[in-house]
Amino acid sequence: MSIQPLFQLNDRVALITGGTGGLGLVMAQTLAEAGAKVVITSRSEEKAAAAAQRLNVEGVVGMAAELTDAGQVDRLVQVVKERYGRIDILVNNAGMNIRKPIESYDESSWDQVMDTNLKAPYLCARAVTPLMKQQRSGRIINVASMLGQVGLAERSAYCASKGGLIQLTKVLALELAPFNVTVNALCPGPIATELNTVVMNNPEANRFFVEQIALGRWGKPEEIAGPTLFLASDASSFMTGAALTVDGGWTAK
Ligand SMILES: NC(=O)c1ccc[n+]([C@@H]2O[C@H](COP(=O)([O-])OP(=O)(O)OC[C@H]3O[C@@H](n4cnc5c(N)ncnc54)[C@H](OP(=O)(O)O)[C@@H]3O)[C@@H](O)[C@H]2O)c1
Repeated sequence: MSIQPLFQLNDRVALITGGTGGLGLVMAQTLAEAGAKVVITSRSEEKAAAAAQRLNVEGVVGMAAELTDAGQVDRLVQVVKERYGRIDILVNNAGMNIRKPIESYDESSWDQVMDTNLKAPYLCARAVTPLMKQQRSGRIINVASMLGQVGLAERSAYCASKGGLIQLTKVLALELAPFNVTVNALCPGPIATELNTVVMNNPEANRFFVEQIALGRWGKPEEIAGPTLFLASDASSFMTGAALTVDGGWTAK
């Protein structure tokens, strides 16, 4: 058996939601370098196009969609299908966090986090499923979090949404296995991106975080490249319904 083809994505088409941010950008670069045609999304058309252009790799385009809106998600998938004829990899990466204690956790914040982190992946998975079933192949990667596996104070909606996403992953894995479509969750721990600037800029919170990470440091966005390529490629062909934790050892305790 030769190892290299396992990680090649030539002629595959990947749709990465929220590709303008830290992890999404790294994922786009990774899949494109492995040979895939990659579509990244943002809520803003200009931001999506600028991010795609900034990436120093061919084959990445940006498209706009508000992922909490079923109509916009269906249209996005239709446009990608018309442009490339197929979708091999869906990475449900777009996500957000609002941190506050439960007494002050207003409904609007709760809904925003749940809609972005849990409803949007459901809408995107639902939209690509008919095509992946018809292709009799596909990969869905749900970017959950170690906070879908363990709790952390003041993250009620975030932890609930990511825990829900891990459960959604298992159900979709069972439903789609007969069609050779695998569905896995990627569960990052603390990685130094925009999402975490508020924590990193607070010395006390930052110290607490670093103390929890066995490797003693924040993850770098590029450290998500390998796990993403693994889940997107033939290297993980017998893996479905799993949660791959990449957290520097936070949850090992
Ligand atoms: N960084 C970490 O430590 C960490 C740890 C565990 C899990 N994660 C998860 O990893 C994923 C990526 O995180 P990140 O750190 O790269 O975050 P980020 O830098 O804040 O980027 C988030 C991306 O999501 C998009 N987005 C947010 N809400 C959206 C919506 N309603 N519709 C469409 N796009 C939306 C943003 O796009 P626009 O603003 O351009 O629209 C942006 O591209 C998230 O699901 C996050 O929960 C991150």
